Amino acid sequence: MQYEQAMEAVAAIQAHTAVKPVVGIILGTGLGDLAAEIEQAVAIPYSEIPHFARSTVQGHAGRLLIGTLEGVPIVAMQGRFHLYEGYEVPVITFPVRVMHLLGANTLFVSNAAGGVNPAYRPGDFMVIRDHIAFAGLAGANPLVGPNDERFGPRFPALAHAYDAVLRTLSHTVAAQVGATLHEGIYAMVAGPSFETQAELRFLRIVGTDAVGMSTVPEVVVARHMGMRVLGISLITNMATGEESEEVNHEGVLATSDAARPRFAALVKGILHELA
Ligand code: HPA
Repeated sequence: MQYEQAMEAVAAIQAHTAVKPVVGIILGTGLGDLAAEIEQAVAIPYSEIPHFARSTVQGHAGRLLIGTLEGVPIVAMQGRFHLYEGYEVPVITFPVRVMHLLGANTLFVSNAAGGVNPAYRPGDFMVIRDHIAFAGLAGANPLVGPNDERFGPRFPALAHAYDAVLRTLSHTVAAQVGATLHEGIYAMVAGPSFETQAELRFLRIVGTDAVGMSTVPEVVVARHMGMRVLGISLITNMATGEESEEVNHEGVLATSDAARPRFAALVKGILHELA
């Protein structure tokens, strides 16, 4: 069923633009600003795309943007959907299906995350080498339910989910634009409450470098369809379990605001190299 629904969304989007995107970008919390840099951008509110959900979180606009960035035809989600908004997982990942059917073979996903690795600092970036899907391992996987072979296999492998070539490329570009880019493990939790101190210590012990409430479902669906994936987290706060001050959404937004120019430079530099 999702295939037919995705094709309906594709048809509605193609009625707005002739651009055939080759890269899909998901702009994370507060990073939606990059939208202003997209050339010949067509912006389509999610409410006008069949079967798309609505974005309910502050810092997430809720529009699909199609145009070119650094000469690369792209489709970008300005605002994404989260498990904590109460959406079923396939609803969260539906736009990734649509981006792929529009022509995107690469997914570039960004997010805001807490730095569990004590060497990280707010404002640093982390390219995702691998992930731990706490909700996914427990059943909140977007591929639960009947499998549609037109998208991909019943049991897709995820051992090499994050493309090694794209990771190397991101380090090269980060050095060029002067961004601090770590490489590490992203753990997805369901949220929306932030983690307890004991949970953060647990996450650290099992190998987490950064923790967040998104990204993993989209990556699973992208890999199911054979897309190449690059994931970059912006570290907005420390989350080692030893912080004296409690984390809050406003602080997360303030840090992502401040990092906006460097994030834009990083994304554009990577696209430039991809072109
Ligand atoms: N925990 C979970 N998600 C987050 C955090 C955090 O500390 N910061 C930004 N997103």
